[in-house]
Amino acid sequence: MQKEEIRRSFVGRDFLKLLDFTPEEIEYLVDLAADFKEKKKAHILTDHLRGRNVALIFEKTSTRTRSSFEVAAHDLGMGTTYLDPSSSQIGKKESTADTARVLAGMFDGIEYRGYGQEIVEELAKYSKVPVWNGLTNEFHPTQMLADLLTIRETFGTLKGIKLAYFGDARYNTGNSLMVVCAKMGMHVALCAPKKYFPDPELVKTCEEIAATTGGSVLLTEDLEEAARGAKVLYTDVWVSMGEPAEIWKERLRDLVPYQVNSALMAMADKDAVFMHCLPAFHDQGTGVGREIFEKYGYSELEVTDEVFESEQSVVFQEAENRMHTIKAVMAATLGYE
Ligand code: CP
Ligand code: NVA
Repeated sequence: MQKEEIRRSFVGRDFLKLLDFTPEEIEYLVDLAADFKEKKKAHILTDHLRGRNVALIFEKTSTRTRSSFEVAAHDLGMGTTYLDPSSSQIGKKESTADTARVLAGMFDGIEYRGYGQEIVEELAKYSKVPVWNGLTNEFHPTQMLADLLTIRETFGTLKGIKLAYFGDARYNTGNSLMVVCAKMGMHVALCAPKKYFPDPELVKTCEEIAATTGGSVLLTEDLEEAARGAKVLYTDVWVSMGEPAEIWKERLRDLVPYQVNSALMAMADKDAVFMHCLPAFHDQGTGVGREIFEKYGYSELEVTDEVFESEQSVVFQEAENRMHTIKAVMAATLGYE
């Protein structure tokens, strides 16, 4: 498909999960984000969507995603309304379908962060304006675009790059990395105890996609096998938002061996970088981190402070890229010209 054709096909579309997009469309969004990033650095205004408004629904907390949507919307000239769980009727006094129809009458686009993927899919079904997934239990697609941009900035390409993910591989970040790597012809290794492997149906779908793009999907419990040749070592928190605090004990028992530390980094490619969607528990600088230390004696969790603060860590570049890529998603689906 020609670039102009892709541009037109994006207008009015939802952004719910990357399974819904072709590799060319995903690449188009990454290119658009890179272009927005360049313009932002050069102080070139991109406020072509003046007069539009977007609703930002957050049923879970956020620093990066909320800030990215707000800054990106303002850069595009748009107004934003932030709705948190305590200040809206969603799900409690008003159904998702009714909320979608009410908000679509006032706004030009709706972001949703919350629980089941079926909620954001339902919102999109009943909304006549684009709906963007800002994270569900199953998927975190805007995070993936930022990750792709970061990997491309680092290695100049996506195709053929091996990414190894360690930790809870059956949640939003693990699932989404598997999908996006398969789509982009990358080699993804998900390394975890078997009970944290993604849903077999999704694995099968990703293997089928990878077979058409030259990528591959590996599920393994073996750290060495996962890290060997990897250019990116990636991890995420061991307990995700919405999961009960009681689960920490079990997660620590299961996932401590999968911590990203310098021994693991040394097993990867010599140019390998460390990535994390953030927030991360790498020191005692957080309330939860201190609580875990007091209760279980672990002072660093999914990544050591040494790796997090090392030259190989690109986590803050990755975090900044959330904003540029979210801007691309809103711009593309709202028909930015
Ligand atoms: N990575 C990410 O989504 O961060 P927030 O939870 O802060 O939005
Ligand atoms: N898996 C994490 C991702 C945070 C961006 C969570 O859902 O809490």
